[in-house]
Parts: sequence; structure tokens; C-alpha cells
Amino acid sequence: MSDSNKVTMNRSSNAYFWLMSFFILSVGVRCQLTTDFYKTTCPDVFRIVRREVQKALRNEMRISTSLLRLHFHDCFVNGCDGSVLLDGNQDSEKFATPNLNSARGFEVIDTIKSSVERACSGVVSCADILAIAARDSVVLSGGPFWYVQLGRRDGLISNGTLANLAIPSPFDTLDTIFSKFNDVGLDLKDVVTLSGSHTIGRARCTFFSNRLFNFSGSDAPDCTIEATMLTELQNLCPQNGDGNRITVLDKGSVDLFDNHYFKKLLDGKGLLSSDQILFSGENATTTTKPLVQFYSVYERIFFVEFAYAMIKMGEIRKNCRVVNS
Ligand code: HEM
Ligand SMILES: *[C@@H]1O[C@H](CO)[C@@H](O)[C@H](O)[C@H]1NC(C)=O
Ligand SMILES: *[C@@H]1O[C@H](CO)[C@@H](O)[C@H](O)[C@H]1NC(C)=O
Ligand SMILES: *[C@@H]1O[C@H](CO)[C@@H](O)[C@H](O)[C@H]1NC(C)=O
Repeated sequence: MSDSNKVTMNRSSNAYFWLMSFFILSVGVRCQLTTDFYKTTCPDVFRIVRREVQKALRNEMRISTSLLRLHFHDCFVNGCDGSVLLDGNQDSEKFATPNLNSARGFEVIDTIKSSVERACSGVVSCADILAIAARDSVVLSGGPFWYVQLGRRDGLISNGTLANLAIPSPFDTLDTIFSKFNDVGLDLKDVVTLSGSHTIGRARCTFFSNRLFNFSGSDAPDCTIEATMLTELQNLCPQNGDGNRITVLDKGSVDLFDNHYFKKLLDGKGLLSSDQILFSGENATTTTKPLVQFYSVYERIFFVEFAYAMIKMGEIRKNCRVVNS
């Protein structure tokens, strides 16, 4: 973690600082909007995507979380270019470890794309559809609204090798997660803010069972897991059990987008190692912990910052030669 990041994060305990950054950001964001990209070519695109996501949600509540995660996995690999949606061979993104048997929602995107194509053929990119669907998923789960910047073009390459390298793993250290975020122009604050996505959705035993019995070869569970939750998870995911069993990322507030996820971290009830280290990790006190505490109290500010971070994650470059600063 660089010193400059430490400095920034240390100030995170200061409510006034976050409030100020909130006002500055709101102004900054308004200037960048390109939300009217399809105004003349496909004016109904927002209505269509919203309607289809709503339909899919009535069928299965979890679909909102799956679409949000797909957009994240798209954006971390060569930018948000719809590459995660491409079918391909063993080397494609769909077969990469973070996605295999894990990424879902492809059929819903197909349905949305068909509806959009019927209204305006050959106009709206798959990457833009995914970005709008992710926003709508958050809104329909009770989370914040933001204007989605549009005009992304679909990429031609799906790179599974890159997906394995670029998408953060729940077993990564905070340093590694930070560096993967940094590679796509996001910072440590964004790590905390966007991890707040885990206020909705589910995860398989495979991704957290390493914490339950023999954590890092210590012959003991991860000592940062709260005791009753540990027992529950050990029962759900016994050693050498079925890694595909699933549980919720934010128990008690499963399908609702709120700040409950951060409150749970304060109690040692984060599901993934990458969740709990934000509060209990070795260096968390001087880096991410203050912001976790802050969000656990100020939900509205979490919402505003989340919306801003999502716009940042889905960025459209201002200068073609460099990523936005
Ligand atoms: C900080 C690094 C992150 C790590 C290590 C991580 C890891 C994971 C893992 C392992 C799962 C469970 C997948 C499964 O069991 O199949 C998951 C689920 C999820 N993640 Fe993350 N994630 C991170 C950041 C994010 C971000 C930035 C977003 C969105 C902007 C996000 C959104 C989600 C959602 C919505 C789910 C639930 C998916 C579902 O129910 O289908 N995550 N994440
Ligand atoms: C995929 O990404 C890897 C890692 O960045 C890179 O070495 C490789 O050349 C890429 N493959 C293609 C086809 O772009
Ligand atoms: C725990 O993990 C370590 C390192 O992987 C291994 O050497 C040890 O045998 C494991 N303990 C048990 C009880 O399986
Ligand atoms: C914590 O910070 C120290 C000193 O900067 C560093 O050596 C160590 O790797 C960090 N630990 C983690 C888990 O990031």
C-alpha cells in the first residue's frame, strides 16, 4: 500500500471529509454524462432494459446480483466491452476461474438484447446493455440510481488468461486486491465501496471454505469469523464436501441493497475472506476499516459513493491515450 493511499484512507474517519468529497464528486459527475447517446437512435432503450430486468427479477430475485457481478467481471478485463458475454473456447472469459460455474445471467442479457434489437436493430452495444442492466439491478434491489454513461463498443476478444489475472479473488490479500483495482483506474476507497455490492447475492462454499477448518495451514479456522456463523458455515460446507453449495453474502438482508453488509463486517460476519479483511485485516486499521465503519453508519453516503464508483468502473476515457485520473 503506498503512502499516499494510507494518507487518503486515514482521513476516511472524518465525516466532514467524506461529505465534502461527496459534494465535489456530484458536481464532477454531472459534467461527464453521455446518457443521451441513444436519444435519437434508440430512445426506448432504458424502458426496455428496465422492463426485462423487472421480468427476470419476478422469476428469480438473485438475477439482479448476477447481472451486477457480470458487469464488474466485464469491466475488469480489457474495459467494459461485453467480452464476458462472448461464447468461446477454454481460453475465453466464461471458462476463467472467477466465472466458470459462477457467472450467470447470460440468458437474461440475451432476452434484453432481443427486445432492444426489435426496437432498434444494430444500435445498442451489448456492453451498454449490461451496464444499464447492472444499474437497474441495483435500483430494483433498493439501492441508488445513477445515470449510466453510454457509447461503449463491443470488443472482439474474450481473454480468459487475462480474466484470471485481472479479476480479484476472494483469497487475495488486500494489497493484491488493491493492485487489481488500481490496474483499472480504481483506488482503495473503491475497493471498500464496491465490495458493498456483497450486500446482495450468494456465494459457493468453494470461495470461503478455506476459512472454516484449516485457514492458511494454521490447523484452525480463520479467527476473524464470528463463532455462531463459523458453526453454521462449517455445517453447510464440511471438509471435502460439495463446493457448489451456496449461501448468502449478507445474511439478514439478502436481496436488499443497503449498508447492512458493512454492519456485519463490524461483527465478524463477512462471508468471504476478501470481505472480512476490509475490517479485520492486518493493515485495515490504517487503510480500509475507517471507511467500513463510516458506511455502516451513513447509508446515504455509501449510496452516493457507490453510484459514483460504478460510473468510474464503467468509465469512458476522456483522453484516448490514458486512463482517467
Ligand atoms: C473486492 C474484490 C471482490 C472479490 C474478491 C469478489 C468475489 C466474489 C465471489 C467469490 C463471489 C461468489 C461467487 C460464487 O460463489 O459463484 C461474489 C459474488 C458477488 N459479487 Fe463479488 N467480489 C469482489 C468485488 C465485487 C464487485 C466490485 C462487485 C460489483 C460491482 C461485486 C459483485 C458481486 C455480486 C453482486 C455477487 C453475487 C452474485 C450472485 O449472487 O450471483 N463483487 N464476489
Ligand atoms: C490475453 O491476456 C494475456 C495476459 O495479459 C496476454 O499475455 C495475451 O496476449 C492476451 N491474449 C490475447 C489474444 O489478447
Ligand atoms: C492444514 O494445512 C497445512 C498446510 O496446507 C497442512 O500441512 C496440514 O496437514 C493441514 N492440517 C490438517 C489437519 O489437514
Ligand atoms: C501490512 O503492511 C506491511 C507494511 O507496509 C506489509 O509489509 C504487509 O505485507 C501488509 N500486510 C498485508 C496483509 O497486506
